[in-house]
Amino acid sequence: MDKKEFLGRRKSLMDIIGKGGLAILSAAPEKVRSRDTFYDYRQDSDFYYLTGFEEPDSVAVLIPDRLEGEFILFCREKDQLKEVWDGAREGNEGAVRNFGADDSFPISDIADILPGLIEQSERVYFSMGDQKDFDQNLMGWIHDLHSGRHGHRGPTEIIDLGHVLHEMRLFKSKKEINLMKKSAKIALDAHSKAMSICKPGLFEYEIEAEFLREFKRRGADCSYPPIVASGNNACVLHYTDNSSVLNDGDLILIDAGCEYQFYASDITRTFPINGIFSEPQREIYEIVYSANQEAIKKVKAGNHWDDPHNIAVKEITKGLKSLGIISGSLKSLIKEKAYHQFFMHKTGHWLGIDVHDVGDYKVADKWRLLEPGMVTTVEPGIYISNSSKGVKKHWKGIGIRIEDDVCVTKNANIVFSQSLPSQAEDIENFMRSFH
Ligand code: GLY
Ligand code: MN
Ligand code: MN
Repeated sequence: MDKKEFLGRRKSLMDIIGKGGLAILSAAPEKVRSRDTFYDYRQDSDFYYLTGFEEPDSVAVLIPDRLEGEFILFCREKDQLKEVWDGAREGNEGAVRNFGADDSFPISDIADILPGLIEQSERVYFSMGDQKDFDQNLMGWIHDLHSGRHGHRGPTEIIDLGHVLHEMRLFKSKKEINLMKKSAKIALDAHSKAMSICKPGLFEYEIEAEFLREFKRRGADCSYPPIVASGNNACVLHYTDNSSVLNDGDLILIDAGCEYQFYASDITRTFPINGIFSEPQREIYEIVYSANQEAIKKVKAGNHWDDPHNIAVKEITKGLKSLGIISGSLKSLIKEKAYHQFFMHKTGHWLGIDVHDVGDYKVADKWRLLEPGMVTTVEPGIYISNSSKGVKKHWKGIGIRIEDDVCVTKNANIVFSQSLPSQAEDIENFMRSFH
């Protein structure tokens, strides 16, 4: 992402918070995986969104109209010895030169400098509750100011930064959309690869390995742990064991997406392990497919956030009723949520820097309207587990979800994941071409 984009975001945020406001963001803490070994470091999404800075132990401060400079970045100093072990650091010079900071100070000096900046502000914008240690430091500094020798000093309001920032993040720029397309393309290619090699006798983790390989090879990481779920495993919504053998005659559900330059894709396809849907599988698949297609059509500017979900519920209820899996009038089945035991999640979520991205789904207690630049997943599913009651045996052990990533545009929408087959016949033809 080019540096101008980050600058533009900081300016937009500072326009919103205005003179007298001060925004503070802390980098994500490092997390121990085992003893002295850490999980791969991943910067906090809000912090990244505004700074592009990927180092831990950093704090960004934005002060609109501050004469000496509006963007202050506290970060680790250069340290030759540490850099030999852990890699290069930007240091304070790098923060100014490469990341557009107007001022940069060693993170070790924050307790001496930040309270003085806070003292001069009226409103502090801060995402409280995200990082306990930093929350406590900040409250300590504010407490010290308020109980100072000269009586009450410093800000009179603390405002949730997330509320302001997440509304900005909900609307993706052209550059963000391009990165999301790229993220989807990498995931699509990995899904195609999976379809091309899938056959009975392989293990789920062997398919997972193809995703990891493709993601890494293309400069990406998983945006969440891949779900590679064959047969009845697909009825466990967050199945990530990925340890079973693939049985001839079963379906496999793969929910896997990547994070490319901080932008997530989130794509699911379900297909027959041997390349041909059985009739009962096809019957359920067609219902989910039609729910997915109808819901995608509803992703357009001016519609409510909930419209894609409502049409998916209708299609799924209609389909289950036509197969005799549930019975009653369509209206009352929907009202009583008869579908819920087979379709127990929502049809989508915002997608962006986080896979379940930020942004309110409701405004003033009403589902918000879709607007250009928003990106959502569309992911209806039907899950009939082996333990489902009152369902014919041939439908048991079938879990199907079809998930696409869809961007709202002025006139219609763009489906980032369009080129990956999702129609039953297209999947069969695609798989046949490899086997
Ligand atoms: N992969 C998580 C989800 O689909 O929401
Ligand atoms: Mn998913
Ligand atoms: Mn999803």
